[in-house]
Amino acid sequence: MGFFGTQFQVDKKVGVISGASQGLGLALAKQLFAKGASLIIISRSETKLKNAKKQILSCTKVHEDQFVEYLAADLIDYQAASKIIPLLDRLGVDKPDFLFCCAGAAHPQYFLNMTNKDLDFGMDTNYKTCVNLVELLAKRMIDTTPPEDGGILSDLKITAGIGNNRPIRHIALFSSEVAFYNFLGYAEYGPAKAAIKAFGDSIRHELKPYCVKVHVVFPGNFESEGYEVENRLKPAACKDIEGSSKPISVDRCAELVIKGIDHGELYIHTDLIGWVLNSFSLGFNPRNWGLFQVIVALVGAIVGGLIDFFHQVLIQGYFRKEGGFIRNNNIKQDENKSD
Ligand SMILES: NC(=O)c1ccc[n+]([C@@H]2O[C@H](COP(=O)([O-])OP(=O)(O)OC[C@H]3O[C@@H](n4cnc5c(N)ncnc54)[C@H](OP(=O)(O)O)[C@@H]3O)[C@@H](O)[C@H]2O)c1
Repeated sequence: MGFFGTQFQVDKKVGVISGASQGLGLALAKQLFAKGASLIIISRSETKLKNAKKQILSCTKVHEDQFVEYLAADLIDYQAASKIIPLLDRLGVDKPDFLFCCAGAAHPQYFLNMTNKDLDFGMDTNYKTCVNLVELLAKRMIDTTPPEDGGILSDLKITAGIGNNRPIRHIALFSSEVAFYNFLGYAEYGPAKAAIKAFGDSIRHELKPYCVKVHVVFPGNFESEGYEVENRLKPAACKDIEGSSKPISVDRCAELVIKGIDHGELYIHTDLIGWVLNSFSLGFNPRNWGLFQVIVALVGAIVGGLIDFFHQVLIQGYFRKEGGFIRNNNIKQDENKSD
């Protein structure tokens, strides 16, 4: 609960969660259902969604009329994603109370071994899945009723999670700590997660007067099916830069995300390293323990270059040890190149 009380009312609310057939999306769905929310979950695989629905419904219901519905759609495809609109109409959901864009995946490897398809995969799976869904639902979620008291007071109240005669709705976009510091191995993933941060910053400004609060989540490592795949693919040099941080459990990660929204945080971190990396690139970012962040930002300004230099030395070591980074001695050409 935040300074102004609970800022994320879940009981009897309806939410849409993408990427909820497994991993963090599913963990969030279970916890939100157990708090009284009805849910529409989205991913590509109907088999996984059916199984996820069963798992969510096995959590104790708070109300008899709580429901879980699913939409099997590849969210990269706008037409497929648009099917969320008739589904909401059929369910009689005028305005979803929250939207969590959790679909995403990281397939790290050396850039020189990536094809244009790998690069597209990163941007499409992480950025496009998110933007398509927000474009479809944000217009439906906004509240155009004039506030009881206009002006700066109303603005401050929305910031504090109080909408007066208007309920606050929430959009949470799932980025990553690499949005603050990207490094070798994440050329297909990091740019998409940085784009999500930038997208969130822009729509946060625009949607707030309409009582829609936009949060961007920057999770650190957590255990999930996706994390397992990512770790299997990760080059050794990439693992080394990342360090030996132990992933937290997916349930703990979901708890921290919900707590962050409840506290009114606009940038949500799930471990200390994420908060430190955010502080190192503080700039115009929304603050979270702002005074401490300014101090850490000063430290970052001094040691950031040194850390990057150290990583460069480490990468040189791998370059020598592995005899270069190209795996197939044949750099694949960008298939879309026009000349
Ligand atoms: N795990 C970590 O350590 C970590 C760290 C930082 C950030 N993150 C981010 O946190 C989010 C959740 O991660 P996770 O580890 O829980 O992922 P995950 O286990 O791989 O789950 C990803 C979910 O996204 C769905 N999905 C993938 N592509 C899709 C598409 N084109 N259209 C619709 N749904 C799609 C998948 O279901 P289908 O296969 O059925 O489509 C699945 O439900 C991701 O955005 C990830 O990038 C993860």
